[in-house]
Amino acid sequence: MARGSPLPPPPPPPPLLLLLLLLLPPPATLTSSPRISLPLGSEKRPFLSFQAGNISNYTALLLSRDGKTLYVGAREALFALNSSVSFLPGGEYQELLWSADAERKQQCSFKGKDPQRDCQNYIKILLPLNSSHLYVCGTGAFSPLCTYVNVENFTLAQDRAGSILLEDGKGRCPFDPNFKSTALVVDGELYTGTVSNFQGNDPAISRSQTLRPTKTESSLNWLQDPAFVASAYIPESLGSVEGDDDKIYFFFSETGQEFEFFDNTIVSRIARICKGDKGGERILQQRWTSFLKAQLLCSRPDDGFPFNVLQDVFMLSPNPEDWRDTLFYGVFTSQWHRGTTEGSAICVFTMKDVHRAFSGLYKEVNRETQQWYTVTYPVPTPRPGACITNSAREKKINSSLQLPDRVLNFLKDHFLMDSQVRSRLLLLQPQARYQRVAVHRVPGLHHTYDVLFLGTGDGRLHKAVSVGPKVHIIEELQIFSPGQPVQNLLLDPDRGLLYAASHAGVVQVPVANCSLYRSCGDCLLSRDPYCAWSGSSCRHISLYPREAASRPWIQDIEGANARGLCNTSLAKARISLPTVL
Ligand SMILES: *[C@@H]1O[C@H](CO)[C@@H](O)[C@H](O)[C@H]1NC(C)=O
Ligand SMILES: *[C@@H]1O[C@H](CO)[C@@H](O)[C@H](O)[C@H]1NC(C)=O
Ligand SMILES: *[C@@H]1O[C@H](CO)[C@@H](O)[C@H](O)[C@H]1NC(C)=O
Ligand SMILES: *[C@@H]1O[C@H](CO)[C@@H](O)[C@H](O)[C@H]1NC(C)=O
Ligand SMILES: *[C@@H]1O[C@H](CO)[C@@H](O)[C@H](O)[C@H]1NC(C)=O
Ligand SMILES: *[C@@H]1O[C@H](CO)[C@@H](O)[C@H](O)[C@H]1NC(C)=O
Ligand SMILES: *[C@@H]1O[C@H](CO)[C@@H](O)[C@H](O)[C@H]1NC(C)=O
Ligand SMILES: *[C@@H]1O[C@H](CO)[C@@H](O)[C@H](O)[C@H]1NC(C)=O
Repeated sequence: MARGSPLPPPPPPPPLLLLLLLLLPPPATLTSSPRISLPLGSEKRPFLSFQAGNISNYTALLLSRDGKTLYVGAREALFALNSSVSFLPGGEYQELLWSADAERKQQCSFKGKDPQRDCQNYIKILLPLNSSHLYVCGTGAFSPLCTYVNVENFTLAQDRAGSILLEDGKGRCPFDPNFKSTALVVDGELYTGTVSNFQGNDPAISRSQTLRPTKTESSLNWLQDPAFVASAYIPESLGSVEGDDDKIYFFFSETGQEFEFFDNTIVSRIARICKGDKGGERILQQRWTSFLKAQLLCSRPDDGFPFNVLQDVFMLSPNPEDWRDTLFYGVFTSQWHRGTTEGSAICVFTMKDVHRAFSGLYKEVNRETQQWYTVTYPVPTPRPGACITNSAREKKINSSLQLPDRVLNFLKDHFLMDSQVRSRLLLLQPQARYQRVAVHRVPGLHHTYDVLFLGTGDGRLHKAVSVGPKVHIIEELQIFSPGQPVQNLLLDPDRGLLYAASHAGVVQVPVANCSLYRSCGDCLLSRDPYCAWSGSSCRHISLYPREAASRPWIQDIEGANARGLCNTSLAKARISLPTVL
């Protein structure tokens, strides 16, 4: 096959990123300090905590569809918490102990692992499988296991003989509890991104729990030491004129092969596969025929300083009718620290940017020189890595099993897209290492705002609002002791609750507490989209929807113009008795 025209090798990352200087707004607006900061145990902004006996390492969180039950996966135990009762002191909860058996623990320590730290069952996967069962996987003392939880009585499913129904968790759940992985269930099939052997060096994106198991081909180096952080299902077949397929996206950091001047340069990636992919017939049997990946870029606009290590991604799908409106909020840190504090950055990228990268040119490597080039010659059809669409069906290609050999052979070496997914840097945070993000699109009094909840490496929660080009950090709460990184965040938008998990426990934090703001001025200056001044107090809008609509409540997220807006008779009504609402 003809080689691509030998373009000069791509420049190393920092100078390349300099180009962004021209594309993004100046950075003065890109930092923000928390307007208020509350220590652990502050009575001004109360929240509830859960911790059970001697159980630690609460990391997996799942909310039941009705929001009434929070499932929690910890070390050697699972919990079903009643969201309105279990967080209260002495509140009842259901506990399900799931320990790795003695033989596994023995084998684990025999292989040189630490019995206390490694040879335990850390629950890493906790997903809704169907209406009656959850699917759970744990590290099983360095020998991962999966099983089913009956939600009705919160017990592990048993086989006919009465023993627990266990499955091999290899390839679904990591061996090492410290390794990152991601998993999701789509139509009863399990998609996972993880490392899948004892040494932790055999990464794979795979589909299991299905009659059509499929995965990445490890001999082709499609993945290079990845650390998976998130995955997302996008129903792209909805309303598609091309007859496109649904897709599953994976987010991770890995070693960037394409920067030959720099060894061990980490890059952030987005990879995708088609839901209908069944693998090839002769070539790429039971392997993805639709695996493609692209670089995700998040860097400081003034000097191009790269935040190259992805920590978490939150998918915001504001419009269930149109997946094209989906936004991805990413939390990034940098491999190259400057100074003593370890900073982080928030970048947002759009579905359109993702599509642009995946429908662009491919990269290929010259095996002898290990240099990467842009493929500029014509590629085979149907387009390699694309899902089966109407135009393929017209050519009598109904599934990936019928894809021509030349398409599959091309795909084996052309899995990296040439263009990067550019993102918009929303916030630079020199003072904190953000680890997790959750985003709530909140209807304010006049407009809609994206409120970001950010968990830090030292037990803090930042709540921030994105207004035009600027992000304001509304409040900072110490939710765990400073030694406890926030391991997970889960938002319950319907109840206005945020759950956060750490090694030490789980907390339930109301998304807002407007009574924290005592005066009209304070209420407006807070820029909290959940809150507005009612004339007598600062109130949570969604708790009083009718009153907020029928009376002239005051909110000014953009301007925070307290002086102008609070100087009205309505605002002054605070001194009179509260009007009956
Ligand atoms: C808000 O805080 C006050 C104490 O400052 C407390 O009495 C109230 O219950 C809190 N509201 C919510 C929703 O947490
Ligand atoms: C917690 O303590 C109980 C006994 O009090 C013990 O059976 C169990 O193994 C302990 N669990 C862990 C995770 O240490
Ligand atoms: C489990 O939690 C303890 C603190 O309770 C922490 O020191 C340890 O690193 C955690 N281990 C893992 C694998 O998360
Ligand atoms: C949670 O607790 C409340 C109050 O006791 C109860 O009414 C409700 O049924 C419980 N919910 C679940 C799902 O158990
Ligand atoms: C859910 O999946 C489990 C395990 O495959 C199965 O035993 C159960 O019958 C399923 N339940 C429903 C309602 O489909
Ligand atoms: C839990 O419920 C399932 C069916 O709903 C039943 O098969 C199982 O025996 C129950 N388990 C226990 C321990 O009661
Ligand atoms: C593709 O599917 C159509 C109808 O679904 C069928 O008529 C056609 O024979 C199939 N082609 C192949 C190559 O399987
Ligand atoms: C506030 O109101 C007073 C009288 O009601 C008026 O004199 C003053 O100019 C107003 N200040 C502003 C900033 O509008």
